[in-house]
Amino acid sequence: MSGRAPENIPCTIVGSGNVAGALAAAIQQAEGSRFYLGGVYARNVEKAASIAGETAASGRIREMKSAEGLLILAVSDDAIQEVAKLISGFDLSEELVCCHISGAAGLDTLEPLAQQGLRVGSIHPLQSFPAGANADYFRDISVSVLSPEAENLLTGFVESLNCRPVPVTEQQKKELHLAAVFASNYLVALMELVNRTTEGLSQPLSEILAPLIQTTLSNVSDKGTEQSLTGPVSRGDSGTIESHLELIRRKQDGQMMHSYKSLGRVALSLAAKSERLTPAEINEIEKLLRE
Ligand SMILES: NC(=O)c1ccc[n+]([C@@H]2O[C@H](COP(=O)([O-])OP(=O)(O)OC[C@H]3O[C@@H](n4cnc5c(N)ncnc54)[C@H](OP(=O)(O)O)[C@@H]3O)[C@@H](O)[C@H]2O)c1
Repeated sequence: MSGRAPENIPCTIVGSGNVAGALAAAIQQAEGSRFYLGGVYARNVEKAASIAGETAASGRIREMKSAEGLLILAVSDDAIQEVAKLISGFDLSEELVCCHISGAAGLDTLEPLAQQGLRVGSIHPLQSFPAGANADYFRDISVSVLSPEAENLLTGFVESLNCRPVPVTEQQKKELHLAAVFASNYLVALMELVNRTTEGLSQPLSEILAPLIQTTLSNVSDKGTEQSLTGPVSRGDSGTIESHLELIRRKQDGQMMHSYKSLGRVALSLAAKSERLTPAEINEIEKLLRE
């Protein structure tokens, strides 16, 4: 006898972008999971078909018509509400749970589906998915889960992908998205400043600094920020800070100057908390880092 046990839960993905592709692959590759990929529907029918592969259904969103199990809206943030409204007119099982995967959007975007009596939620993967991302991008990552009505099902789904579920309130979800922007997007921006500091080296700067960056990140995750801070601010070395400021002045890079000073002030507040510096040292560095 073939077929799936009745307790198995079909997942339907709407969207065919970066996350949709990686998520579909992660669902299909998850071992021993009771969730399986039932279908992929999107504006771009070729992309939907290529993501669905041979075992799942695919088509245009309007062709979905009915859905059961778990419906995941993997469309651009601005399109979630519009797509939710479109889908709310379909033949939907009353047991259906519908979620989006956006960090920024709230549950209000799924209101058209909630009004139909469906349970709604959000699962936000704390990961960066470039074009062509595959199932590996879901391996061992954290995923925030917000769903007052279907937390168990969504938590089970996240665990089935071997991800770590992080239950959040609406407020925590917004704050976690802010955190993710600092940790990912602005880390990239910081690396752009790093690249601008030095020219003409024999190897790329990102290669030279890779071990330093990795060690710093692992120190922060093992010991926390306070114990991981090293460098001139943590030592109260105002002479070095002055010479850095002079170097940046010569480069005439306003963004670098502003960032050096404002990040320096954050580092100073950490160093001051750990009581490594005398009040006189803190005052002197504060003066140097003033805008
Ligand atoms: N990329 C990341 O790193 C990341 C990380 C965590 C969460 N997310 C979240 O994942 C979701 C999808 O992001 P993504 O990076 O996968 O975006 P993406 O690659 O730009 O894909 C967006 C998808 O939305 C579809 N779409 C856009 N407007 C639509 C509309 N009006 N009606 C129907 N479909 C529409 C697009 O269709 P077309 O192909 O036809 O344009 C495409 O399939 C977003 O909520 C985002 O916040 C992304």
